Amino acid sequence: MRHYKIAVIEGDGIGREVVPEGIRVLEAAGRKFGIEFSWTHFDWSCESYLKTGRMMPEDGLEQLRCFDSIFLGAVGYPGVPDHVSLWGLLIPIRRGFEQYVNVRPIRLLAGVESPLKGHLPGGIDFCTVRENNEGEYSEVGGRMFRGTDSELAIQESLFTRRGCDRVIRFAFELAERRRKHVTSATKSNGIVYTMPFWDERFAAVKQEFPNCRTDQFHIDILAAHFVAHPDWFDVVVGSNLFGDILSDLGAAVVGSIGLAPSANINPERKFPSMFEPVHGSAPDIAGKGVANPVAQIWSGAMMLEHLGEMEAAKAVEDAFCSLLAKGGARTADVGGTATTQEVGEAIARELFTATE
Ligand code: NAI
Ligand code: MG
Repeated sequence: MRHYKIAVIEGDGIGREVVPEGIRVLEAAGRKFGIEFSWTHFDWSCESYLKTGRMMPEDGLEQLRCFDSIFLGAVGYPGVPDHVSLWGLLIPIRRGFEQYVNVRPIRLLAGVESPLKGHLPGGIDFCTVRENNEGEYSEVGGRMFRGTDSELAIQESLFTRRGCDRVIRFAFELAERRRKHVTSATKSNGIVYTMPFWDERFAAVKQEFPNCRTDQFHIDILAAHFVAHPDWFDVVVGSNLFGDILSDLGAAVVGSIGLAPSANINPERKFPSMFEPVHGSAPDIAGKGVANPVAQIWSGAMMLEHLGEMEAAKAVEDAFCSLLAKGGARTADVGGTATTQEVGEAIARELFTATE
């Protein structure tokens, strides 16, 4: 038996509904492949913020540090400003644990309809690699003259050579294991300091990977290409903001944000990495039991992969893929009527039937 200690933060809204299904499926995979998990739950959320004034305790990172991985749902809820929930929990974890890469696979699965016509299952299959520690999401800036006619806000972007190089290098290393093609998202025509610098670093790092094909697009036309030619891409690397936007767009192109997983990775493994769906807490559907748990379950598969449990990771992926492919239980966002729990249970069952 291999044993892993996992920190669980369900968070808010549908995070509380999809995380239990993620755990259900990982437990099932554990039984099948001889893996034991211990799940330690941390009730850190907007609800706890309203009681304590903090999204997580002051020593939150210290509490998480000893775990093998963090399995997170989503944070954010009406009544707590979004920048408070994000900067009080998610961003400190991503930065404190140097999770400087955010990998988000985008794949058209069999049995799921893309809003774009003419694409076959697997015909859209790429990964966005988002810089996750710096860029546009910086704490440098300020506000002055609040409430007056002279009111102003300044937000600086922060691009370092170390920060650009390491995420771009990760994208190339990932591409080497895939179809050896890296696309860079830029906007060096409009953003005249940071983006030409990003382009320079992309050009420098690509020299280390002569067997990879590259291209780059300004973010505006790249967004258009995601819709017009999603089959062009293999690995798409972008800054924090561009990667964030592109990953939601990519998710929509392959059918639903409810299917989009993500991994916040510290490649050096000095700190735990964190696995969470791309989507947020979806207050509009929270509490109804209709959220799609596949994004969370797929994030769980990415966690297994990061832990080195390749066989179990693949089995989990095969299970939700085969359930969707054969028209099995699905939630409303992908055209079904099943509940979150019914889909979780069906995937757990599939794990034992599909691969035997
Ligand atoms: P969202 O991703 O929560 O929801 C966007 C739309 O997608 C909604 O209509 C929602 O119902 C739908 N949706 C999302 N996940 C789904 C699922 N699994 N199954 C079916 N439908 C799903 O984004 P939104 O509305 O911008 O943000 C809501 C809250 O979540 C905010 O407080 C925001 O700050 C927070 N948020 C948190 C994130 C995180 O914790 N990583 C990421 C994005 C947003
Ligand atoms: Mg986002």
